[in-house]
Amino acid sequence: MNLSDLYGNQINGNQINEKQLIDKLEQQHCLTKEEWTELISRRNSQTAEYLFEKARYWQHKYFGNKVYTRGLIEFTNYCKNDCYYCGIRRSNRQAERYRLTKEQILECCAIGYELGFRTYVLQGGEDGWFTQEKLEDIVRTIKERYPDCALTLSIGERSFESYQRLFEAGADRYLLRHETAEDAHYQNLHPPELSSENRKQCLRNLKEIGFQTGTGFMVGSPGQTPEQLAEDMLFIHELQPHMVGIGPFVPHHETPFAKETGGTVELTLFMIGLLRLMQPKLLLPSTTALGTIDPLGREKGIQAGANVVMPNLSPTSVRKKYELYDNKICTGDEAAECRMCLNRRMESIGYELVTDRGDYPF
Ligand code: 5AD
Ligand code: FES
Repeated sequence: MNLSDLYGNQINGNQINEKQLIDKLEQQHCLTKEEWTELISRRNSQTAEYLFEKARYWQHKYFGNKVYTRGLIEFTNYCKNDCYYCGIRRSNRQAERYRLTKEQILECCAIGYELGFRTYVLQGGEDGWFTQEKLEDIVRTIKERYPDCALTLSIGERSFESYQRLFEAGADRYLLRHETAEDAHYQNLHPPELSSENRKQCLRNLKEIGFQTGTGFMVGSPGQTPEQLAEDMLFIHELQPHMVGIGPFVPHHETPFAKETGGTVELTLFMIGLLRLMQPKLLLPSTTALGTIDPLGREKGIQAGANVVMPNLSPTSVRKKYELYDNKICTGDEAAECRMCLNRRMESIGYELVTDRGDYPF
């Protein structure tokens, strides 16, 4: 049997084949690498609509019209890494570096709590100034003050022991995007000292320790092919994470990728829909990067199957400095404005932002 028989391309026409692949995905929650590649490369607006309808069905089954919200606190933009795509890479001498004090972080939490946030995400570059002890102390203090809140860390690659101690200090969740699952592509996006193998091992360690674990990847990063996106889906299927954050690659003017083309809304939405069908209970954010390249990007993300938004709680004085990519939205808005803005945006499409920890529905 040749490939076109296998997919029935000549008999049924492409569209039916893609719909069949979507049906198979919905029933079996996985596809082969060839099938992922086919589906991703042959997608069109009709298959996308078919996919999104099914994605919304599963989203409603597990989450109703509720959208979870996380308060993001970007507490340091110092970073020892030099990823080619990232605006806070260590080689960017133009980046104005900052660190929040423990008191400032706690102040963000206090403001967030008042606004109804029950999950805090502490995100930062890989900044050695925040030692293991300092981090554990911050985690403990936040969990003591807000025992009803979940605490997520997003502070990069660390040892098993370090992760273990942060978990014991009270952190509930950890976000570490794998960025791209294929080794060669990973090497094209990162300096030689970073490896996709180590990244994946960190993710396995986090899961083993007991964190609700989030991975993710950029859509449309330089050189990305449908085969590589297929690898991303296979890796995620193997890992079975609790969260997957994806957003379009957006060029940053002070990086080696300044002149590269960014990812599209269309492909990002399609990947969100696929993720919802592959793992129906997944926590799936509609990301700021998506909102940056399209004024209605976050709404569209929810309508494609996402169920989380992560507005910023960082003080407005530092917002602009945590610029991973150009034109990042919300850098001038107070946390309360973002909360209200997102309330309105979600209501406009028939969804509701909820005050809830928003754990993975085990
Ligand atoms: N465009 C889009 N996303 C980016 N990130 C970093 N730089 C960029 C960029 N230029 C993403 C990475 C990282 C997350 C915190 O932000 O995927 O894991
Ligand atoms: Fe920040 Fe709309 S979400 S201003």
